[in-house]
Amino acid sequence: MLVFLRKADWLADGMRVVPAEDGSARLIPLAASAPVELSEPLRRFGIEMCEGAEDERFENDWWKLLAAEVGQECVEEHGEAWPSNHEFVGDMMIVRIDEEVEEYEEAIARAKLASHPHIRLILADGGVQGEFRIRELRPIGVLIDGESWTGTGLAEVPEESLSTSVFVKESGRRIRCDPTRAYFSTKLQTERLETLALAKELRGVLGRPLRVCDPFCGVGPALATLLAEPGLVGDVLASDLNPDAVEMLFDNLRRWDRRDYPSEPSRLARIHDDRMVGVADATELAGNTTIAGDWDLVLVNLPHRTIEFLPTLAPLLDRTSPSMIRGRVVVAESEIDAANAAIRSALPPRLEGTPEPELRIKRDYSSTLRLCSFEAWIAPMP
Ligand SMILES: C[S@@+](CC[C@H](N)C(=O)[O-])C[C@H]1O[C@@H](n2cnc3c(N)ncnc32)[C@H](O)[C@@H]1O
Repeated sequence: MLVFLRKADWLADGMRVVPAEDGSARLIPLAASAPVELSEPLRRFGIEMCEGAEDERFENDWWKLLAAEVGQECVEEHGEAWPSNHEFVGDMMIVRIDEEVEEYEEAIARAKLASHPHIRLILADGGVQGEFRIRELRPIGVLIDGESWTGTGLAEVPEESLSTSVFVKESGRRIRCDPTRAYFSTKLQTERLETLALAKELRGVLGRPLRVCDPFCGVGPALATLLAEPGLVGDVLASDLNPDAVEMLFDNLRRWDRRDYPSEPSRLARIHDDRMVGVADATELAGNTTIAGDWDLVLVNLPHRTIEFLPTLAPLLDRTSPSMIRGRVVVAESEIDAANAAIRSALPPRLEGTPEPELRIKRDYSSTLRLCSFEAWIAPMP
């Protein structure tokens, strides 16, 4: 089975096989590129969601290679300042370089490239900028035909080898993204799988495909997961304020839908009978009578402003039947109760028999802020 999974590119890099907690099975770490449901010959195996275990060999290699570059004493001197964590986006690796070890940037890049041979480009993370949430990324190393280039050598490499436009495989789909032009995070895959499970529940209640509105859709990763599920989604509204995100979204939808989409970003318009796609300000959508009151599932992924925007987004829901808003929120841990109250008062009454919307902490955003998510089941209007 391992051979099959490796060939299909469905094995998670850098993670190891572990026994299940109850000892009844062995858990094989799947890559984000693996489909949500396994097909033959693996259909008889279930997918378990749990924290993965890192394969220390990759980590050990990186520390050894770093020590070979800068010396063991220097490695020990700067301890936790070294970037032991990193994020993969396609064949790129993004690392945060602490000021304390800035002078060793080239050594860091060489050691990272050598310890992760599938990586083409390594970038220093300058953080997320502006309302489009795009990343400031600076190339610090690239691998070309097995040779690593760093520092001043980067001026000599072909421009295309430094390209940050990549494909990421997720839920069996290829997602085009470029984190320097539009927001994209591989860390949200579990969130997207949770949204998929909730959407299936809502479809069960409604007994028909859902009309999904994703007004902060970026390059469309949430839709990638939902559209991969047969019969789950009917009509889609996908929009974003960032034209670059919409350009990549068109490219993605062209492949996922196997239909034509414009090659240039354009204002929100009905491109196919069941697809409204384009550039739009989410706060203005509900003012359009052909859009308001038409959607079963509304996704709100603008975590710093979700609560502020809820009153302008709630009118997008179709109140003739049960519906759902699913959102993400960044909030101080001490403010979670107040945020829950604000969410409840901004939304129409909840569907009987469903829980009150409540923020669940997903991870730390900073020392005091938490990244949370919630879902609200909304009752039809009496
Ligand atoms: C956190 S990102 C989420 C993107 C996408 N949903 C995802 O999961 O990758 C928020 C997105 O909202 C977009 N955005 C910000 N303000 C907006 C507005 N007023 N109307 C529509 N989109 C907006 C940004 O360009 C960005 O792509």
